[in-house]
Amino acid sequence: MSDYKTDVLIIGTGPAGSATAALLSSYGIENMVVNRYRWLANTPRAHITNQRTMEVLRDLGREVEDEAYLHATHKDLMGENIFCESLAGEEIGRMKAWGNHPLSAAEHKMSSPSLMNDLPQTFMEPILFKTACQRGTQAKMSTEYLRHEQDADGVTTTCLDRLSGKEFTIRSKYLVGADGAKSLVADHAGLPFEGQMGVGGSMNILFKADLSKYVAHRPSVLYWVMQPGADVGGIGMGLVRMVRPWNEWLIVWGYDINGPEPEVTEEFATGVARQLIGDPELKIELLSANTWTVNNYYATELSKGRVFCMGDAVHRHPPSNGLGSNTSIQDSFNLAWKLAMVLKGQAGEALLDSYTTERAPVAKQIVTRANKSIGETGPIFDALGMSEGVDPVQMQKNLEARCDGTSAAEKQREAIRKAIAFKKYEFDAHGVEMNQRYRSDAVVTDGQVEPDFELDAELHYQPTTWPGARLPHAWLYATDGAEVSSLDLCGHGRFTVLTGLGGEAWCAAAEELSAELGVEIVCHVIGPRRPYMDHSGDWARASEITDTGCLLVRPDHHVAWRSHKLAKDPKAELRRVLNAVLAK
Ligand code: FDA
Repeated sequence: MSDYKTDVLIIGTGPAGSATAALLSSYGIENMVVNRYRWLANTPRAHITNQRTMEVLRDLGREVEDEAYLHATHKDLMGENIFCESLAGEEIGRMKAWGNHPLSAAEHKMSSPSLMNDLPQTFMEPILFKTACQRGTQAKMSTEYLRHEQDADGVTTTCLDRLSGKEFTIRSKYLVGADGAKSLVADHAGLPFEGQMGVGGSMNILFKADLSKYVAHRPSVLYWVMQPGADVGGIGMGLVRMVRPWNEWLIVWGYDINGPEPEVTEEFATGVARQLIGDPELKIELLSANTWTVNNYYATELSKGRVFCMGDAVHRHPPSNGLGSNTSIQDSFNLAWKLAMVLKGQAGEALLDSYTTERAPVAKQIVTRANKSIGETGPIFDALGMSEGVDPVQMQKNLEARCDGTSAAEKQREAIRKAIAFKKYEFDAHGVEMNQRYRSDAVVTDGQVEPDFELDAELHYQPTTWPGARLPHAWLYATDGAEVSSLDLCGHGRFTVLTGLGGEAWCAAAEELSAELGVEIVCHVIGPRRPYMDHSGDWARASEITDTGCLLVRPDHHVAWRSHKLAKDPKAELRRVLNAVLAK
C-alpha cells in the first residue's frame, strides 16, 4: 500500500515539471509534483523566452501570458548583441539579436500573437508553479525522488521527506521525470543517450551593480567580452548577461573541465567582474556563484513504459541559442494532452508513443544546434587574431591591427564583420525555435508532399498547415472588433476543426463525433458574418485549404490532418483520422 496516490507524479518543479503540472491541472488531471528543495529556482539560469513558449503560456490563459510580460524585460531591450574588449572598453562589433533586426522583427510579428522576451527562470517558474497549484496540482516540496518501480498498472515511486528524514511511496499511473540534467529518473528508467556529458566547465557569478552608464545606450541581454588572456572555457569567452536592466547581472566564465572545479570566492568573483566590465574600482553585491558543465547529450528515447522524461533530463546542452527552458516547456505541451486523453479513456495508450517519435528529434536538434553555436564563435576569435597561442601581448597586437589603414586590416575588418554576422544562427535563429514539424502516428497525412523550406530553415520560420506542422498564426477579427489569433481558437486541451463558408458539414460531423468518441472537438467556421472573420485575407493564405476544406488541430496547436475541400462524407473522414490519431 502506497502512502499517496495520484494519476501523474512529476519529479521536478523546473520549467518542464511546473509546465506539465499546470497543463495537466488545466486539463482536469490529478497530479502531484515534488521537488527536493523547499522552493523553486534560486538563480536566473534560463531567460531568453521565445514565441513558441509564450504561446504555451497563452494557451494556459491570457492572464498567465500577461503575468510573464509583466515581469519580463521587453524584446526591445534585448537587441544589441555586443562584442567588446570590456563594457567600459572598446566595442568590437555588434549584431541585432532576438528578433530585433527590422527584417527579423517583421517575421516575428507575422509568426505569432506572442512576443519574445527575457524572463529569468526565477520569474518563469513561480508563474507556472502557481498556475499549477491554483488549478489543482498537489505540490510536495523538500521531497527527494529516490527510485521507482513500474508494473502493468502503474508506478510506485519512493521519495524521501527531507524534513522528517522518512521515506514514503507514491503510487501513480504515470511518472514524469522532469528532474533536470542529472536526472535520476531517466537513469533509473534506462533511457538510451547519445553524446557526451561534461565537455566544458562554466561558472555563473550573479551580482548586483548599476552598469547603466556602460549599457543603457546599447540595450542588450548579452555583452560578450573578448579579452586577450581571458580564460574562455565552455562558452567561448567572458559573458556579461543582463538579468534585470541594468542593475542585476550574471557573468558566465569558463574554467578548465580537466582541472579541479574552482572555488568561487567573493574576491575571485569581484575580480572577474572588474576585469570583464573594465572598471577596477567596481563594487558588486555578490548574490551567488556556482559552477556547471557544458554537455552535448540527448536521449534517443524519452519514455520507458509508464515513465516519461522531459526537459534537461533528456536534452543537455549549453545555453547557446537560449533553447533549454523553452524546449522543456514545449516538451510538456506535447506530452500533457496525450497523458490527459489516455487517462480520460479518450485515447489508446499507443498515443503516448508519439511523444518520443515527435520530441526525440527535437532533443537531438537543439543539443546539436547549441553545441554548434559554441563552435561558430571560433571564427570571431580567428578574425581578431586571438585564437593562436596564449601570448596576451601578441593577441592584443593582433586585435589592434584591425584599426590600421592597410588592406590587410580592411580584410581583417571584413572577416570580423562576417564572423559576427554569422552568429545569427545563435542569436536570431527563428526557424530553430518555430519550425518543428512532427512525423508520427498522431499525425495523419493528407497525401501532400512536405513543403520544402524556401529560406534557411534554421533562420526563418516557414508557416504551413502540412500535417505535423504548428498551425500558422493569422489575426482574425471577432464580431466585436477584437483581434484573435488563429492559435487562440485552438488548444486548451481540445481538438479544433477550422473551416470556412460552405464547410459547415465539418462542424456537424465534429459535433456528432465529439459525442460518439467522448472527445471535445471545437469547430469554427471562419468567414464573413461569422464569429471570426478574415478581413485581411491572411488566414485564407495561411490555411492552404479552400473555404470548404478543413484543418484538424491537436490540443498542442499542431495540425493533425487537413482536407483541401469538403469531403464526400466528412464524418467518416474525421472519424478515420481521429481514431488514428487517438490510437483507438
Ligand atoms: P531544471 O533543472 O530547471 O529543474 C529540475 C527540477 O528537478 C528542479 O526543481 C530540481 O530541484 C528537481 N530535482 C532534481 N533532482 C531531483 C530529485 N532527485 N528529487 C526531487 N526533485 C529533483 N534555457 C532557455 O530556454 N533560455 C535561456 O536563455 C537559457 N539560459 C541559460 C543560461 C545558463 C547560464 C544556464 C546554466 C542555463 C540556461 N538555460 C536556458 C537552460 C535552462 O536553465 C534549462 O534548460 C532548464 O532549466 C531545464 O528545465 P528543466 O525543468 O528540465 O530542469
